[in-house]
Amino acid sequence: MGETQKNLLPRHVAIIMDGNGRWAKKRMLPRTMGHKKGAETFGKIARYCRNLEIPYLTAYAFSTENWKRPKEEIDAIMDLLRHYLSDVFRHQDENARLCFLGDLEPLDEDIRETALRIQRESAQNHGITINIALNYGGRDEIIHAAQNLAKRCMAGELSPNDIDEALFSDALYTAGQPDPDLIIRPSGECRTSNFLPWQGAYAELVFMDVLWPDFSEKDFDRALEIYQSRSRRFGGI
Ligand code: IPE
Ligand code: IPE
Ligand code: MG
Repeated sequence: MGETQKNLLPRHVAIIMDGNGRWAKKRMLPRTMGHKKGAETFGKIARYCRNLEIPYLTAYAFSTENWKRPKEEIDAIMDLLRHYLSDVFRHQDENARLCFLGDLEPLDEDIRETALRIQRESAQNHGITINIALNYGGRDEIIHAAQNLAKRCMAGELSPNDIDEALFSDALYTAGQPDPDLIIRPSGECRTSNFLPWQGAYAELVFMDVLWPDFSEKDFDRALEIYQSRSRRFGGI
């Protein structure tokens, strides 16, 4: 990638890691194998983003709606998370800051505790910020933010008229972070499935036909090229 292109890189890329089940089905494998391969793809793409010096990467790992799936599949996804949380994330990049977006309360205690510990221990790191959206739902996030702000109003800390976009943004899981510039969804589906509805209001959306476990650095480059070919106006001219 040339210098000019590098200057046009997004600051924050968010990815909806979709298509694991279809990848496995195509190979007559259990869906779990698709999730396993998808987790490996995540590691690869996170390293690639770090090498490109993209400062923020967000990955949608489990949605508030994914609890509708069969218990065996949820258990398998949680086991993969256990493995990754205690192993890969810790060793992948010493300087990465890991954040979890979502309501961690309903998760098994060991997963929640490990996630919170990694988040705490990496909080001062200055490398890439990697957000893992885990039990994340955009509507759920907005409701949590509204409840917190309402409580602060009731406590007399805040008046309803103080609530503006900046204050609201600060009540979300992504507090203090820039909004995503680019949201990539592989797997051929053209929807955002409750992912970052507030933060992604002006994100460029790129939908791609590849299934997430097959997603390569080349596919990521292609998404960046599409992003760079777009004209972002933010309501201006
Ligand atoms: C995304 O892959 C992973 C999660 C939602 C946890 P899917 O499991 O949704 O894969 P498809 O869409 O069924 O192929
Ligand atoms: C979105 O994928 C959630 C994640 C990738 C974690 P889904 O597979 O759950 O989305 P829908 O059901 O196709 O909208
Ligand atoms: Mg899916």
